[in-house]
Amino acid sequence: MIQPYDLSTNPMNTVEWLFAAMECVHIGSFALSIGTIAMVDMSLLGAGVKGRSPAQILRATELWTVAGLATVITAGLAIFSSDPLRYYYSPTFRFKIWVLLAAIVFNYTFHRRVALSGSSPFIAKATGAISMILWVTIVFSGLFFAFNPGGY
Ligand code: HEM
Repeated sequence: MIQPYDLSTNPMNTVEWLFAAMECVHIGSFALSIGTIAMVDMSLLGAGVKGRSPAQILRATELWTVAGLATVITAGLAIFSSDPLRYYYSPTFRFKIWVLLAAIVFNYTFHRRVALSGSSPFIAKATGAISMILWVTIVFSGLFFAFNPGGY
């Protein structure tokens, strides 16, 4: 397989600590973004911060969520650049990226609307549950890549 560029020129592959540092940033920032989304989800499920509505929690956390998402994606792209074809051809990695796209679209459309404008308890609970399932699936597919890298 022909690599898209000479991988040995990428600092991710030559600076000893950089890959590990990016992994730490990746994990820390997804904890921030998914953690803040989970606070809204818990509230939609009726188990959130007492005395605060889902809308109030969303408003209080949305900047942290977007900062976490921007950072996790940037760090993910840096890790990806260390061996692009290996990741690109991995079914586990592709699955994670597709679910991530679905989760981001869901988060900024339906999930946001339900959290901000309210809805029936059933819709609120279903929205919180679907959101949690999507984000947890992404975390597990990130982890399972190590067990089933596939690739070229
Ligand atoms: C919220 C979004 C994301 C979550 C929750 C997530 C989660 C994870 C997790 C749990 C790991 C395993 C960490 C480890 O134990 O080594 C991982 C690794 C990785 N992620 Fe993500 N990730 C996200 C977004 C992205 C994006 C957008 C990209 C690329 C465009 C990406 C690329 C990678 C790569 C290349 C690895 C290294 C896999 C390996 O070699 O083991 N991630 N991610």
